[in-house]
Amino acid sequence: MFTSQEEWDRGYADGCRYRQLGDSERTLLATHVPAPDAGRALDVGCGVGELAAHLAGLGYAVDAVDWSETALAEARTRHREAARWLRLDVEGDDWSPLHAGGYDLITLRFVAPFLNARDRTLHMLGRRLRPGGTLVVITPLAADTPAERRGIALDEDELEALRNRWAIAERHDTEGLAFLVLRSPRRNEATAQDSPLGVGKQATPSSTRNGEATATASLREHHFHLLGRYYGQVESGRKTVEVRVATPDKAAVDAGDAIVFHDRDSGRELDIVVKRVTPYASFEELLSGEDSSRIDPDAAREELLVKLRSIYPPDKEALGPLAFEFDHRPGRPGHSLPMTPSQYAQTVPHHTVYGCLYVRDEHDRPIQLRSVYGSRLWQFPGGNLDTQGEDPFQTSLREAFEETGLEIDPGTPKLLLTHFLHAGPRLPLNKVGFIFDGGRLTTDQLRRIRLDAAEHDLWAVHDLDGWRQLMAPLAFTRLDAVERARLGEGPAYLITHT
Ligand SMILES: C[S@@+](CC[C@H](N)C(=O)[O-])C[C@H]1O[C@@H](n2cnc3c(N)ncnc32)[C@H](O)[C@@H]1O
Repeated sequence: MFTSQEEWDRGYADGCRYRQLGDSERTLLATHVPAPDAGRALDVGCGVGELAAHLAGLGYAVDAVDWSETALAEARTRHREAARWLRLDVEGDDWSPLHAGGYDLITLRFVAPFLNARDRTLHMLGRRLRPGGTLVVITPLAADTPAERRGIALDEDELEALRNRWAIAERHDTEGLAFLVLRSPRRNEATAQDSPLGVGKQATPSSTRNGEATATASLREHHFHLLGRYYGQVESGRKTVEVRVATPDKAAVDAGDAIVFHDRDSGRELDIVVKRVTPYASFEELLSGEDSSRIDPDAAREELLVKLRSIYPPDKEALGPLAFEFDHRPGRPGHSLPMTPSQYAQTVPHHTVYGCLYVRDEHDRPIQLRSVYGSRLWQFPGGNLDTQGEDPFQTSLREAFEETGLEIDPGTPKLLLTHFLHAGPRLPLNKVGFIFDGGRLTTDQLRRIRLDAAEHDLWAVHDLDGWRQLMAPLAFTRLDAVERARLGEGPAYLITHT
């Protein structure tokens, strides 16, 4: 594994190249970070420039940085004007060559494992994002990487630590790679203070303490202990203002900080974000300025004043009461999931999904097609969702066209019935069906029906009694249910067993 600039240079000169950008990576980029108008991107550790050139193709104005001059020389030859190619040690050099107005997208592909101060560097890159911007990290997974090459990959703990530093963090696993989409970096004083750019924590003047909290949770955490009765009020969302006096630890709490409430009785805890801290001269003044039902929803104002004075004698009240208003945003990052999404997918039952259209003639009599397969069931036009990216309504329109030759356009999807079919001897997987209203077909449309002989050999129109005669009872149950749902006479949910 290369650790210095010289080693990377020598590696490139010796012909070392890295895995080419895959189709799934291209799809994920197009899906999650399409270029906004006048979008600007930064590719960090761009190597010979394939990703930077791809981002330019997506519509971004691209800056691409690498500390290897050999790699950059090849990038310039191959991709010329696609990017501004900048030689920069992203962890050591001054960043003034970067675009001062920030970036909508910053990418690090196969780079994060090599960074010496990964947390700090990613944090500082996060600060270069424009509002709403995204940092994408693409990295091999340690679990899929041979032990001798472990250094080029990140393991689950490292990935989780990285994700936890962002308020919005999505992970997509693809072909042995993790593709992280990170938005809204969390505030992080430790890394900011020792950053190479010297951006430290801003002191918070008391006059600005009552400002709105920022949207992202803070890493500054304070611990408040509550009697069970008050903890229960917070836990149930009814208590949203806490009152304390300005001891040094409480005076240090700012809007945007996290408070972890501990239940003295049960040991349970929960975390919230402080929205506002308001200092008062006395409890009386505080109760005039605050809605007392948010401090204690079960006590009258006068009762509350007595309680506060019984907890805090005059010398404590003289420190100055503080009202902490909070909302229900989490103050701490969520726990790590016990397994990756792919692992989780292996643990749950799998289902097939179908989508079909309930169509009728001009007299509202149902139209069905007779299958050439198996028990020759009568079916609605539609079929199984077997195409990536399709939703059940699109499936129903596509299948109806394939099966009848009609381009049925019911407009806004109107779901009549959701059908859950349990797995059984004739069906190894559970099945979920969405039956949409396909509306009425005109006589002219009916005349133009052209069946696909590989699937159906007959179509027919009957009233419900006619269909009851023709269909097996279980199959008729679905027709009956969808018609009743259409008329508003039955539930829009049907469960059957094969
Ligand atoms: C494995 S290569 C990946 C190259 C490219 N992103 C790709 O996907 O093919 C890692 C790249 O990061 C660059 N790099 C590593 N540390 C760096 C640093 N501190 N500053 C700038 N570039 C760095 C290396 O020179 C190398 O080109």
